[in-house]
Amino acid sequence: MFVYEKRLQYPIKIKQTNPKLAQIIITQYGGPDGELAASLRYLSQRFTMPVPELKATLNDIGVEELSHLEMIGTIVYQLTKNLTEEQIKAAGFDAYFVDHTTGVYPSSAAGVPFTAAYLQVKGDPITDLHEDMAAEQKARTTYDNILRYCDDPDVIDPIRFLRQREVVHYQRFGENLRILTDKLDSKNFYAFNPSFDKKCFDKAK
Ligand SMILES: [Fe+2]
Repeated sequence: MFVYEKRLQYPIKIKQTNPKLAQIIITQYGGPDGELAASLRYLSQRFTMPVPELKATLNDIGVEELSHLEMIGTIVYQLTKNLTEEQIKAAGFDAYFVDHTTGVYPSSAAGVPFTAAYLQVKGDPITDLHEDMAAEQKARTTYDNILRYCDDPDVIDPIRFLRQREVVHYQRFGENLRILTDKLDSKNFYAFNPSFDKKCFDKAK
């Protein structure tokens, strides 16, 4: 169950319209390494994560990524408020405008619509945690790339906050991987379904 709190995780107050920047930042809404993919990845992987504290981490971070999705949507919305015809043309925002007006649509910076193919839920805890650590680094790189195009402090500030959270998430998933690896050494942990696992291992011999 989710309870909604009517406030952003970090304040956003952008005064300057900038559709060009909005077109780039939208990728963290619905792009390959964006916040929608992140939240769906973790909130889906948590069901089969076998250790309660690791399940809790996926839950925590998955929910936080939803807050980040809300922040990115707010940034895009504020950057495209009160657009003029000239600003749309000058920024090359016309293709997006024709399809979505100024609605916030989950797509990449290149305009590719969101797809679940951006994320994986493998049901194997080691595999899933490695995916999560890679995803956090990819998100961090994307924020680094976005910052290269930002010159408005009202945008830079929340984007830096989001970038920092990716670093923290990467570290938390790293800790979880260590916890899991330690548990793998304890007897029988890996046998989630002993008879099924035995068949797999026998086949692999
Ligand atoms: Fe993250």
